[in-house]
Amino acid sequence: MCGIFAYLNYNVARERRYILEVLFNGLRRLEYRGYDSSGVAIDSDPAPLKGGSADVVLDEDAATSRPPYNSPPPLMFRQAGKIESLVGSVYTEVDAMDLNLEESFFVHAGIAHTRWATHGVPAPRNSHPQTSGEYNEFLVVHNGIITNYEVLKETLIRHGFIFESDTDTEVIPKLAKFVFDKAHDGDGDQMVTFSQVVIEVIRQLEGAYALIFKSPHYPNELIACKRGSTLLLGDVNEDAKNYTPFHDATSLAENRKPKELFFSSDLCAIVEHTKKYLAIEDDEVVHIKDGSVSILKFDYGKEKPASVQRALSFLEMEVEQIKKGNYDHFMQKEIHEQPHSLTTTMRGRLKDKSVILGGLKDHLKTIRHSRRVVFIGCGTSYNAALAARPFLEELSGIPVTMEIASDLLDREGPIYREDTAVFVSQSGETADTLLALDYALENGALCVGITNTVGSALARKTHCGVHINAGCEIGVASTKAYTSQIVVMTMMALAIGDDRISNQARRESIIDGLYKLPSVVGEVLKLDGQINDLAKSLIDAQSLLVFGRGYNYATALEGALKVKEVALMHSEGMLAGEMKHGPLALVDETLPIIVIATRDSCFSKQQSVIQQLRARKGRLVVMCSEGDASLVCPGGSCRVIEVPQVADCLQPVINIIPLQLLAYHLTVLRGFDVDQPRNLAKSVTTL
Ligand code: F6R
Repeated sequence: MCGIFAYLNYNVARERRYILEVLFNGLRRLEYRGYDSSGVAIDSDPAPLKGGSADVVLDEDAATSRPPYNSPPPLMFRQAGKIESLVGSVYTEVDAMDLNLEESFFVHAGIAHTRWATHGVPAPRNSHPQTSGEYNEFLVVHNGIITNYEVLKETLIRHGFIFESDTDTEVIPKLAKFVFDKAHDGDGDQMVTFSQVVIEVIRQLEGAYALIFKSPHYPNELIACKRGSTLLLGDVNEDAKNYTPFHDATSLAENRKPKELFFSSDLCAIVEHTKKYLAIEDDEVVHIKDGSVSILKFDYGKEKPASVQRALSFLEMEVEQIKKGNYDHFMQKEIHEQPHSLTTTMRGRLKDKSVILGGLKDHLKTIRHSRRVVFIGCGTSYNAALAARPFLEELSGIPVTMEIASDLLDREGPIYREDTAVFVSQSGETADTLLALDYALENGALCVGITNTVGSALARKTHCGVHINAGCEIGVASTKAYTSQIVVMTMMALAIGDDRISNQARRESIIDGLYKLPSVVGEVLKLDGQINDLAKSLIDAQSLLVFGRGYNYATALEGALKVKEVALMHSEGMLAGEMKHGPLALVDETLPIIVIATRDSCFSKQQSVIQQLRARKGRLVVMCSEGDASLVCPGGSCRVIEVPQVADCLQPVINIIPLQLLAYHLTVLRGFDVDQPRNLAKSVTTL
């Protein structure tokens, strides 16, 4: 939900065109987070230089000067629609302004944003950067929500500020100008640094945010800070290992080394430049000045923030992960790479007949002694937990309950100290899930995180957890993360149930199944052509029902969710046991119904569901285990999808794949956007 990006080069010559392309590319990588509108801000003129790159001389007073500005006002471009419409309009405007795209900047700071609209329709004035007003004295890109923006707006209006947008964000640059002007009132000797301005601003903000500030008062500087929303800093400098308090340890010569630094909401936009990164923590204010990075830790209770030292991390991700390769869409690529993503999810975690989850090992005892395990998540992540629930119950003997994060919060449902609360989130950023996590922490539960995103708020706030290591998921519809989440929770159940001798044979057979799972998934993917034919037969359907039960109730919910969100076709996943309690009334010869009837303890019950549907002339598609076609569909009276049979608790990983393929093909055939479905965004960071 909104992506923010920034690029700063220092003492290295970069042409205007290059800078723009780095910013646009960053936005292209983040576009899956929001694609209603976008914007960039760049410098209009190169900073004052003397001689060549080694002799860069920056204005020593830059940090403390007063208007008129140290540099001309930045140029800001904003456009509704997808990134490519921004790109086109920027080049047209640059051309009209007669700006030279080949002009070199030895030092430059650019910021960029891609938006998923929350406050205000997609329009240039509601796009980011948001500005303090005339001359773009302060420019801000923001991901998150400022909950007290109305109060701040009223105050600023009383002080004469005129608002142009409907966004919550606009209060931030205006507040920065207010703070800056106030410091320079009177005799004018009260000079402030950029970080002082920003800290004064964030003292006033409530809500969640990742922010990047740019200002002509502080040319070639950037400030980034966050609370809640994820924000990362990427560093191209080969020697960079950690950031020490500002200027303390860095000589001028060190300062003059060529530097390239990036801020981004997601590692996907950084990986093509560098693998060194820092996950910025809540209430840290990162200040880049003269190519150096300083980090201040802000504390409401204290007047002065403390300088902190932070070590850089190394990113385990390949550039190929963020490219489509030979596929037409990211969703298609991500469906087909599941044999690989499942392998990486399990890598190093299966050893002979046992499971080792480093992130949980010190907490297994506490989990085993919990009064219950509560799974908490939203959407696909909730469905993955639902798929894993029966096996965890079976292996641990602990009651397992399910909570949709928003519903838990709406009800203020009971969470106890004796509970283990397991939070499942691909992005690790979902606002509902994070608020539910705060709630569970307040109530004293042991909080376990299951996420795909290293350095995410979920990863940082939980007591312990497991990364699913599925690789970057760019298609808005979650596919490979779903199967990896199920596998991680299955491994978690195996680790928790490790102390029970009575489980041993069952555990070992599941572990055997896990070793084989990636190659079986490879087999199911060969159904692609058959599923495309099925999609052709369903292209005009108004609605679709999917019936499942037991392990595959989750498959029914998840399959229907996929069809709904990308193919924009109404579809409902239903518990087959509930069929005769209402949904049966919908059955006729036209409504397509998929029944999941692979072999497990519910098979005979699903057979009778099929019979009841056939008796009412239902338009059936049955998913069954290989070799069962004539059993589930005697006389070829319905369409059948045969899938390989695996252990019951792993079958949801197999069964979801034809449904993911179906959603994909239906979307392409119906002519909708596969990777960026209408109105959706990948990370839902608003409530
Ligand atoms: C559906 C989908 C969403 C997410 C949900 C939670 O394909 O992706 O339903 O699963 O928004 O997101 P995370 O897992 O990031 O917490």
